Amino acid sequence: MKIKYLGHAAFEIKTEEKTFLIDPFLKNNPKAAAKPEDFEKVDFIFVTHAHADHLGDAVEIAKRTKAKIVAIYDLAEWISSNYNVETVGMNYGRTEMEGIEVIMVPAWHSSSFQGKAIGNAAGFIIGVEGKRIYHAGDTCVFSDMKLFAELYPINIALLPIGGHFVMDVEQALKALELVKPEIAIPMHYNTWPIITANAQEFKEKAEKLGVKAVLLEPGEEINV
Ligand code: NI
Ligand code: MN
Repeated sequence: MKIKYLGHAAFEIKTEEKTFLIDPFLKNNPKAAAKPEDFEKVDFIFVTHAHADHLGDAVEIAKRTKAKIVAIYDLAEWISSNYNVETVGMNYGRTEMEGIEVIMVPAWHSSSFQGKAIGNAAGFIIGVEGKRIYHAGDTCVFSDMKLFAELYPINIALLPIGGHFVMDVEQALKALELVKPEIAIPMHYNTWPIITANAQEFKEKAEKLGVKAVLLEPGEEINV
């Protein structure tokens, strides 16, 4: 499969059969590598929480492509009651959808839209083509990351490193010790000055922990 970084916390995952987006925040994202109208065929859009830099353009893309938006139950209900799109509301736990394994895990963070609290923040572990990808969402480090990685071994971890709202480099390195992925891709940094981070430092220190860190510029992808 191909994992493409679209900037901030947004990713596109393309398998043989399916295309997924995670947190497609594009239009107001100064570092976005795509526009909402660039996507024609999308099966699922995973949204980790309601903040505008994650919900982003999910509704617009879902309307056009008929993708289903996967989010925590309360956020999914809010989306489907306000917009004419299909949603899959779930909660912290494991399920399967169209042959894809989806595990929603907690993220220590808030979740609101235009000042209104909606649901709780989450991360996703997505199992497809024999690999598991962990998108941590917006979160600080927490020890249950280890528990989930024991239950569901992680191949690729997408981890925030920008600090202030989420993990910084030091916390993300601790997360690597807990999650032990083969590959780590940092995200949620350098979009704005307040979340400036030294990704090179993350890469070098991750490698000392035996984790291959891949720094993707928005628009770049890896084959895994
Ligand atoms: Ni957030
Ligand atoms: Mn965020």
